[in-house]
Amino acid sequence: MDPWFDVARSLERILLENARALGWDTEAFVPEVRTADPRFGDFQANGVLSYAKRTRQNPRALAEALARSFGESQPEAAAWMDVSIAGPGFVNFALRPEFLSAWSKRFGTAEDLRSGAGARFAGKTWVVDFGSPNTAKQMHVGHIRSIIIGEAICRLLEFCGAKVIRDNHLGDWGTQFGKILYGYKHHLDPAALERDALEEFERLYKAADSACKEDPAALEEARLELVRLQNGESDAVALWERVNRLSIDKLESIYVRLGVRYDHYLGESFYRDKVGRVYEELTAAGLAETSEGALVVFHPDHPRFGKQPFIVRKSDGASNYASTDLATMLYRVEHFAADGIIVVTDARQNDHFEQLWLTTRKWFAATGRRLPEFQHVTFGTILGEDGKAIKTRSGDPIRLEALLDEAEERSFQVVTAKNPDLPEPERRAIAASVGISSVLYADLSQNRTGDYVFAWDKLLSLEGNTAPYLLYAGVRIASILRKLEPSQDVPEASAAVVETPEEVALARKLVAFPSALDQAVSALRPHFVSSYLYELAGAFSSFYNANRVLVEDDAVRGRRLLLCRRTLLVLRTGLALLGIRSLEAM
Ligand code: ARG
Repeated sequence: MDPWFDVARSLERILLENARALGWDTEAFVPEVRTADPRFGDFQANGVLSYAKRTRQNPRALAEALARSFGESQPEAAAWMDVSIAGPGFVNFALRPEFLSAWSKRFGTAEDLRSGAGARFAGKTWVVDFGSPNTAKQMHVGHIRSIIIGEAICRLLEFCGAKVIRDNHLGDWGTQFGKILYGYKHHLDPAALERDALEEFERLYKAADSACKEDPAALEEARLELVRLQNGESDAVALWERVNRLSIDKLESIYVRLGVRYDHYLGESFYRDKVGRVYEELTAAGLAETSEGALVVFHPDHPRFGKQPFIVRKSDGASNYASTDLATMLYRVEHFAADGIIVVTDARQNDHFEQLWLTTRKWFAATGRRLPEFQHVTFGTILGEDGKAIKTRSGDPIRLEALLDEAEERSFQVVTAKNPDLPEPERRAIAASVGISSVLYADLSQNRTGDYVFAWDKLLSLEGNTAPYLLYAGVRIASILRKLEPSQDVPEASAAVVETPEEVALARKLVAFPSALDQAVSALRPHFVSSYLYELAGAFSSFYNANRVLVEDDAVRGRRLLLCRRTLLVLRTGLALLGIRSLEAM
């Protein structure tokens, strides 16, 4: 890997080495290299200030010593950047145009961008559990965030060299199946099942539920269905399997539209024969105890979970969400040899996952197992334009499929307005892609932990931080390159060094890609990539408005073509990381 792919990382490393050579206490000194305000440079090291404070020294003198040692230890790097001291003790690094152009030449393919990316995940196996809805139920808007964010995280980790296993931990087991099986036997509408299995299962559940409320005989029958299923009686199991099979088929048709594909569908039911070991080991390790007939784990070292139990087996002996999730932890480590596990759900499940992880840590320590990394990736709520959780006009949750249909339909209007002469099938195809991308991007452009307002006009707009804006920026660059005559082309190697302020600004933005990627991957927050792409497209637009590309002078034309090509590469690579397909025309 070329150390200068990620300039911030390299600076971080060099500054730490230099600090050591200067005799600083490198336990206490963290360089804290960050992207700088462009007026002052490309990167700044902020860490001298807190180090000076901690060691009661003059920050300015320390910053100067560090800057001087940079020049002495790295004469080659020092020739690429201007190092200066600002304020009370910030060290600023401004990349020279020679470096900026060399960087663009050096990293010219998606493979180059990938090979330089974050080492933390390279060669590691990560299981990502996302989407994970309950079967026999329709997905509504609320389900989309886990799918979109989960898929983007998978792509980011894969880009950094991880082996990613996408696992859909379906809620495919539980007491609801007594009523679903009862409903299936008494109320099934085969034509409706054919049309939309999930919609029909939901209706069957509701029909059974009201029958059970009115008629004790129905209630008893549904209860018996559940008992028969739990006892493994073959006809009940076969019907339950059919419900799940049809559910997954229908879910997959939606995943395909979103560009998502799973390696496994290991739902809760998969673990129901794997919980016995969990009970035994937790009990043997003295972690679990019986309380009011249930098996529970307390965490006396925790402010709340010392009193609030983690119920791992219900008092009727049945397993639950906690037991199956504990078995899931073990399976992912034993079967997939997972180095890391990520679960993507909304923040309402925080307590569950905190207790799960606390329990797993103690359990694995007691049994001498290797502990994987674990991250519960959470997200906020999608709001309607009234600022409340988004609903249809009649107050029902919006079906995910209906939302995607509406996205395609609305974007068809946008595409038609822009390209009235394109044949309709082409407009439809573009609209399908733009519509879905707009929905994905609206989510991924927001810091995931916050709520966001879902507004059609905003997310489909060609202006602002939207998918259509970024896709259109790419289309524009692609069309410049398409129209290029072979005789006008200039080999990249002979492109001159960037010169005009807009060229320099764009080239600097390109060099900032690795930092954005690194931020997104370290925090598992894809919006760092989105914000970056939006800024990149803005820098391109300013460049393009002020600098004609196809000028006479070969050297100037060469460096501008290089910028066009590299911007397109980084833009497309970044969009692909978010699960967004780029277009040739729009
Ligand atoms: N099925 C759950 C739900 O709908 C999400 C499952 C998340 N994954 C897990 N291992 N618990 O809320």
